[in-house]
Amino acid sequence: MSMITPPTSASPKAIAFDAYATLFDVYCMEALAEEYFPCQGKALTLLWRAKQVEYTRIRTMSGQFKTFWEVTRDALIFAARALELPMNDSQRQHLMNQYACLRPFPENVATLEALKAMGFPLAILSNGTYSMLDIAVKYNDMNHLFAHILSADSVHKFKTAPEVYQLAVDAFQLPKEEILFVSANAWDACAATWFGFTTFWVNRTNQPADVLDVTPHGSGRELSDVLAWVGGLHS
Ligand code: LAC
Repeated sequence: MSMITPPTSASPKAIAFDAYATLFDVYCMEALAEEYFPCQGKALTLLWRAKQVEYTRIRTMSGQFKTFWEVTRDALIFAARALELPMNDSQRQHLMNQYACLRPFPENVATLEALKAMGFPLAILSNGTYSMLDIAVKYNDMNHLFAHILSADSVHKFKTAPEVYQLAVDAFQLPKEEILFVSANAWDACAATWFGFTTFWVNRTNQPADVLDVTPHGSGRELSDVLAWVGGLHS
């Protein structure tokens, strides 16, 4: 069941989406990881993702930028070491290649098409490199959906640095509150709310809200819940 919270007074004119875990399913890597390391696929996938996000923060806070592709590879190396998994170069390469070709969650393409048909220009706003985002979008035939693909690469900082969120303001040429930012990562949705966007948190795994003195304006369980929420704003 979706949890729809009341809309804000702002009426979004454009929508930007986080990529990994929001548009693209980062946890589907578990199957390949499980094949290589039986009974450890889930643990590897979860630690890989957690470490990847942690590294983006450490690097941004310390002014030590490295691309998201490199950070993702470094996090995979760490996760395998931490779990004492004997990952060889070929297995690492295969897991990384699969990361480049992630699939969207099942309801996502239809939702994006419906939002576009409602007249919203759409963008991806992600820590991912341009090349990672470009490959994922093309691989899934999603090119026609987005007016902008925006990457943290261009400011050499990762979210939650305000400079990354500012990319959407510059691209859409709209006030912050007229941009709806959608993320399945609670920390991203919270930081984007601090930044000044109207925000929607896709809480796929029914997590408790973060205690950060900020609450995304809307939330639901799937990307398709954005449709009803945005529909409510415009009715
Ligand atoms: C992104 C990560 C944070 O796409 O999911 O920016």
